[in-house]
Amino acid sequence: MSLLELNDVRKHFGTVQALRGVTFSVEPGQVVGLVGDNGAGKSTLMKTITGVHVPDGGTIRFDGTELNGRHPGDIRALGIEMIYQDLALARMQDVASNIFLGREPTRRVLGTPLRVIDRGRMEREAEVMIKKLGARVPSVQYIVGQLSGGQQQSVAIARALTFNPKLVIMDEPTAALAVREVEHVLDLIRELKRARIAIILISHRLTDVFAVCDRIVALRQGVVVADDPILETSMNDVVAHIVGAA
Ligand SMILES: Nc1ncnc2c1ncn2[C@@H]1O[C@H](COP(=O)(O)OP(=O)(O)O)[C@@H](O)[C@H]1O
Ligand SMILES: [Mg+2]
Repeated sequence: MSLLELNDVRKHFGTVQALRGVTFSVEPGQVVGLVGDNGAGKSTLMKTITGVHVPDGGTIRFDGTELNGRHPGDIRALGIEMIYQDLALARMQDVASNIFLGREPTRRVLGTPLRVIDRGRMEREAEVMIKKLGARVPSVQYIVGQLSGGQQQSVAIARALTFNPKLVIMDEPTAALAVREVEHVLDLIRELKRARIAIILISHRLTDVFAVCDRIVALRQGVVVADDPILETSMNDVVAHIVGAA
């Protein structure tokens, strides 16, 4: 059974048909590159998987469960994490707070039924995750807005991994990074793959896609126009599919 199965997924906004029947699947531990020109429907497709958008039709199954119409929080709890292009980090807060944003561990106040955020546990677990990722973040108490682009990307990835997802969706994770930082993010993706976490990598940088992906899916005007193992395609082929010259 595939981990994620999309069948004939459709979504429109007013008169714009953003997705016109998208069908593809992702196997456990597989890294799938999702490419396509601006406006092809990549972000809409991912937001439909994560429950931000409700599809007009078609089915989305994840790990045996139908996702259609479920809330983003439920879908996240089933094991799908999304790292948005703008990272959606709280820039004024520190690293530990960002990793647990909205899902903070709590502890009971001694002798009362009250619960408060368990700051100590949060920092300890954030520390472990940052170390595991080899992220060069000075401390989990550091304010995120003061970190470099690559460090912020590491924090976003750490946040995605803290709750043991089965699938991580990354929207342009290397677009804003310096060359050395790109290598680090690609290494992280390889490490997630070794840990059997499936990844959908949206990227305009075909060299990155070819460096880490097992398969490449090209979307054009809301439909899948190519779905090939990386070893059976080439950058020229992929570009031709993206621009519609194939
Ligand atoms: N919330 C929205 N409201 C109206 N139109 C949208 C919305 N989101 C996306 N679209 C439109 O849907 C199409 C696909 O967009 P998008 O999924 O963002 O493409 P991509 O991520 O591949 O660049 C575009 O024509 C875009 O303008
Ligand atoms: Mg997009």
